Amino acid sequence: MKEIKVGILGLGTVGTGIAKIIYDNAELITSRLGAKLTLKKAADIDLKTDRGINFDDGILTDDAFKVVNDPEIDIVIEMIGGETIAKDLIIKAIDNGKHIVTANKALLASHGNMLFKAAAEKGVSIAFEPSVGGCMPIIKTIRESLVGNHIQSISGILNGTCNYILSKITSEGAAFEDALTEAQAEGFAEADPTLDIEGYDTAHKLAILSSIAYGAEINLKDIYVEGITNITAMDIEFANQCGYTIKLLAITKLTENAIDARVHPTMIPFSNPLSNVNGSLNAVTIAGDAVGNMMLYGHGAGMMPTASAAISDTIDIARDLLNGIHTRVPMLSFKMDKIKKIPTQPIDEISTFYYIRFSALDQPGVLSKLSGILGDHKISIKSVHQTERKSNGAVPIFMLTHLAKEAEIQKALSKISSLDIITDAPSLIRIEGSN
Ligand code: HSE
Repeated sequence: MKEIKVGILGLGTVGTGIAKIIYDNAELITSRLGAKLTLKKAADIDLKTDRGINFDDGILTDDAFKVVNDPEIDIVIEMIGGETIAKDLIIKAIDNGKHIVTANKALLASHGNMLFKAAAEKGVSIAFEPSVGGCMPIIKTIRESLVGNHIQSISGILNGTCNYILSKITSEGAAFEDALTEAQAEGFAEADPTLDIEGYDTAHKLAILSSIAYGAEINLKDIYVEGITNITAMDIEFANQCGYTIKLLAITKLTENAIDARVHPTMIPFSNPLSNVNGSLNAVTIAGDAVGNMMLYGHGAGMMPTASAAISDTIDIARDLLNGIHTRVPMLSFKMDKIKKIPTQPIDEISTFYYIRFSALDQPGVLSKLSGILGDHKISIKSVHQTERKSNGAVPIFMLTHLAKEAEIQKALSKISSLDIITDAPSLIRIEGSN
């Protein structure tokens, strides 16, 4: 029987999950692939931990270069993460003619353009389904299922840690720090959780999605990123009272000349299906000119869901190899010579609806001062709500606006912040899907 040989770099949570699937589902995989998928080598610096797998003799090594330099290995599955050693290993593996499967969204978002070019020149593939949305087949859906569509927009909850924290605050009134600690204990937070809560993990994933949706070079630096650390229980409660949920959304839209790509906390109406995606789950909605709107939903992280996506990529590459070809589906969904630079729209140029929370002294004339400045900037107020005075004499004032320009909102907030009636920096949340 024909055999396709793979090597795994990194036996952490997901790497171990991949090895488990290769061993436990061997018969199933053989019957679907028509060949044996063999784990030839697996590298990790920790070879002592019992991972609950009976690795065949000679498979484990603490030298990752033994994997990428093994002449028998066809596919290298990189599960180390980060932008240092993982990058060196992938470059070496490509150089040695190996195909790559990776979950490394940070690496692809920062160095993807170089890596994909290197792979194309060498005639090998880089597959990256596990890098975005865990088990959700978002990459395959865009690249293959929606191949006949102009993708118009994608909106998604792509970070389980943030969704878990926001859901816990919403449903249980949990404290931010407690919810983060629980997310870390569940194992889906990044080693450095600031990547999660400050929105960078989501931005890495959005950069990848924008690229394959529009045939654009990956452009991480120009994505506007704002995390969830300034969201308070008060904002969530007010949003809920008005029929909205607050989610950290990755949004990308193709405008006439640019890509509007941004990551920020977003108020979405209860009628938006993303508003019901809770806990660590991820979901993404895609709009295409032929397909209309569609949605994918599932576990965005975790051992077996992410391993499932990695195995899917591995089998795709293995099928190509068995057919004597490679890269049947273009890595970035467009042929490499059609990938172009598309400018990113600066956040200042967007127009949307806004929620603003002011903290102001409770005295005559405050509202007229606020509305005067907003009016000067052509910002029309949809509703205003004021709650009870706090012990320091300040009062929270909540406002929803009609459609407004971001640049005008920022100018108005900067003027308002300098008023002596304002006791704290105003808080702003963009609203999507309002009217
Ligand atoms: N830290 C990520 C999350 C893991 O919380 O969703 C998957 O990329």
